[in-house]
Amino acid sequence: MRLILLGAPGAGKGTQAQALAAHYRVPHISTGEIFRQNLTQGTELGERARSYMQKGLLVPDDVTEAMVDARLGEPDAEAGFILDGFPRTVPQAKALEVMIQRRGLRLDAALLLVVPEDLLTLRLTGRRVCPQCGANYHVQFHPPKRDGWCDHCGAALVQRPDDSLETVKTRLRVYEEQTAPLIGYYRDRGLLREVDGRRPVEEVTAHVVRLLEGGND
Ligand code: AP5
Repeated sequence: MRLILLGAPGAGKGTQAQALAAHYRVPHISTGEIFRQNLTQGTELGERARSYMQKGLLVPDDVTEAMVDARLGEPDAEAGFILDGFPRTVPQAKALEVMIQRRGLRLDAALLLVVPEDLLTLRLTGRRVCPQCGANYHVQFHPPKRDGWCDHCGAALVQRPDDSLETVKTRLRVYEEQTAPLIGYYRDRGLLREVDGRRPVEEVTAHVVRLLEGGND
């Protein structure tokens, strides 16, 4: 399975990518996550990405494309991949096409998770993440068993710095301006599949799997 996930910040790309990666036994490749790991490790890449991420802006295309190309070259990606957060601009989509063709491959689908803006804001500002194991929670929709602490590893949960209301507004604007044009781009190529992302996590996953395996709804 070679799938890209499209959708606004908070649409559930990371959540669904994790489930789909387990289902199809392929790696979940999240550009946001790779940038965050680099930030934590203090690498040069992390330093280049820092100011853009803090402001809710996109990291420049050349930096992001080189990073994805390197990741797709790793052995585990030969079996397929779920790309979460890339491409995010039309130039990135064109660069991905070249990367894939160069490897003699093709995309199976571009999956769009559709969620209205008021719910996106609620999801992002209420999200809490585990800095240790990466588990994802929501104060209202998916709370941990013990408030503020990770169910899996017991670490204290934190809020992503770019999940503040002000930065969320910027991210949603950037999505509309720079990423939403990809919907038409993939529709024109016959690859777009749309799913209602408002439904509970497991229902969305089941719907996606049905769609990808030839179902109609
Ligand atoms: P990135 O990490 O990719 O952030 P994003 O696209 O803004 O997406 P999010 O992770 O915020 O949301 P999501 O759609 O994955 O939702 P999630 O599943 O977590 O990117 C961060 C930054 O890195 C960017 O701003 C940019 O600076 C940079 N960057 C990354 N890629 C780049 C690129 N290609 N080019 C340039 N720059 C790039 O869910 C959100 C919340 O909702 C969670 O709390 C979750 O529990 C909850 N939730 C999810 N699904 C459901 C559901 N069905 N029902 C109820 N709650 C749900």
